[in-house]
This record gives sequence, C-alpha cells and structure tokens, in this order.
Amino acid sequence: MQKADRLGKLPPYLFVTIRNKIREARERGIDVISLGVGDPDQPTPPHVIQALQQAAEDPANHVYPTDEEKGMLKFRQSVARWYAERFGVKLNPETEVLALIGSKEGNHHLCLATLNPGDTAILPDPGYPAYFASAVFAGAEVERIPLSREDGFLPRFDKIPEELAKKAKLLFLCYPNNPTGAVATLEFWQEAVAWAKKYDVILVNDHPYSEVTFDGYRSVSILEAEGAMDVAVEFNSLSKPYNMTGWRIGMAVGNSELIAGISQVKENTDSGVFNAVQYAAIAALDGPQEASRELMNLYKARRDRVLETLRSIGLNPDTPKATFYVWSPTPEGMSSADFAAAVLDKAGVVVTPGRGYGENGEGFFRISLTVADDRLDEALARIKAAFS
Ligand code: MLT
Repeated sequence: MQKADRLGKLPPYLFVTIRNKIREARERGIDVISLGVGDPDQPTPPHVIQALQQAAEDPANHVYPTDEEKGMLKFRQSVARWYAERFGVKLNPETEVLALIGSKEGNHHLCLATLNPGDTAILPDPGYPAYFASAVFAGAEVERIPLSREDGFLPRFDKIPEELAKKAKLLFLCYPNNPTGAVATLEFWQEAVAWAKKYDVILVNDHPYSEVTFDGYRSVSILEAEGAMDVAVEFNSLSKPYNMTGWRIGMAVGNSELIAGISQVKENTDSGVFNAVQYAAIAALDGPQEASRELMNLYKARRDRVLETLRSIGLNPDTPKATFYVWSPTPEGMSSADFAAAVLDKAGVVVTPGRGYGENGEGFFRISLTVADDRLDEALARIKAAFS
C-alpha cells in the first residue's frame, strides 16, 4: 500500500515505541517495570462504575449517544457547573462545552477545524507528541518554541519572533505541563491571551492534569484570564483525576466559534461518547471527591520517593507541584536515549527519554508515578543499585 504523505511526516509515536521496547525486553525474560506511560494504576471510583452499570442496563442508552458528537446536555451542564465551582469560569453548556472522546481527540479535531494546509501552528518544545501529529494531519507547518528550565518551562512571549507571531494561526500549550510538570500562573495566562489577541492566534490549553496537584497548589484555567473566551479553548479530561483513561471521555470548553468548529468536524467523523460513559462522567464530576484527593496524596508520596532516589544518585530534578510526572536531568554527559537504554539494561526499568518530546527535551527523562507502590519501590531500588 502506498501510504499518504502525512504518515511519512510523523516520527514513530513515542508511546508505541516504548510499548514495543517493553514487549521486547519481556520476551528476553526481563521483569520490566514501566515508568514510561502516564496511565493510572488505581481503579475508577466504585460510584462511577455503578453509574455506568445502571446506565448500560437501560436500553434507552443502547442507541446513538444523545446529541451525538456534542455530548448530552446533562453532561455539558455538569461540566459547566464544575468549571464554575472549580475555576469560577461561567460557561454556556449549549455553546461553550463539548464532550470529547478524551482530550487527545479534541486537540486533533481542533486542528482540522482551524488549520488550512500551509498554516502555521506553534508547538512547545518539549511537548506532548500528539500535538505535532494533529497539526501535521491538518497539513499545517509546525514551528516550535523552546521551554527552558531557567524560565520554569514556560514560553517567553517576548522571545517569539514577530515574524512567527504574525504568521501563526494556533499555539498549543499545556499547563500543568506534560512532560515537565511545570505550572502556569494567572499572570502567565493573561500575558498569553494578550499576545494571542495582538497577533490573532488561537490559544489552546491542554489541561488534563488540572486536578493532579500537590502541596496546596491549585491549577488555573486559561479561561480565568480576562478576554480568554475571545481566543482560547481548553481541553480537559476525566482520565487523570478519576482513573478513567480507558473510558475515553473529556471535554472542550471555551470560545463558542472554536467549540462549534470542533463540533462540526466531529459530526462528520464520530458519533460521540456512549451515553452510559457520559452518565458515569456526570457521577464523577458531581459526586464525592474524596477518592480523587486521596489519590493525589498517593501520587505525592510516590513523587517524594522518586525525587529522593534520583537525588541520591546525583541527579537534581525540580519538585513538581502538579502532574504525575517527574522530569529530571540525565547524568552529566549522557543523552536521554542512552540513559533510558542504560536504565532498561541495568535495572529493567523503562523511563521516557526527553528527546521524544522534542529537541529541548534532550538531557532530560520522565518518570511516571502511575505504577503500584511495590513495583515503584522495586524500580527505585534497582535504579539506585545500578547508578550509585
Ligand atoms: C503520557 O504518558 O504522557 C500520557 O499517557 C499521555 C496521554 O494522556 O495520552
């Protein structure tokens, strides 16, 4: 088969490469512990599962989802209520909220809705690899802006060249940040919105880690910034706070024209999320939040053990206030690929090489905190023994 050119423009998908590495190593008889992918090990809360079970038994939900690609109004109302309570952001559930099959889908369909072939999308480097694929599928040209440790892994708007700003159509951001764990302030979002308005650029915040926060930190929505509703869309997801990665449900919120654009792509592409999953998501958003808070205590304890181990072998990662990732420099003089290979070889542990997130990810690696405690502790003990 002659594949489409767009596929040839994509590097191998980072997490597929990692999955393959894990499989190969297991085939060689290695007891691999993967700290590579951010996929929660804990179960979905029982009341959410019960809501799914009940809704799945009702034949009214066996047909196409209500309001298909938009999501049920009840789900959208629940999202609007949650955004009002959580961020103080007022959303019209009819026009400013959309159900998604996970936030990754939203990134992709937003690109199809807004980018013409030859348009320019600006991506953060390092950045989540799916943004690149989404922009490329829309035929866009990709330009990257560096995120550096000195700047707290936030882009410097004063350093984006005027020429690039003028031609850009869309800027992808993600705070709390995957892969670096960096966070953004309201002042940062205000600066981002002012920049986007000045240059007429669509602003995206991918926000699935909004609830994965520690040490009293509360994540800020881009929509809290004044004027953000004019230029911005935010993607969020039930995946991380409620251990629902497999359920595939998230939401797009923000500028009504952008929401309508994504919706138009979706009505021609998919038929939305199974109603029963939407009822489960409503139960998650509207129900008790204790399990989610306890989950963050669990991640915080894991984060602290990872930091302690990495520091004990001479590395100096920052302490992340959010996300379930630790982003650490590699040992002096070692590339991220070499270090990831050495960790697999010497310790049977998979970490994600920073280079997989872009050129500026070189010299770093990412550890995900989403493995069972005993396996994490085993992995840390092996890393400590191998690199002390
Ligand atoms: C990751 O490891 O970065 C996550 O699994 C990404 C995702 O949520 O798709």
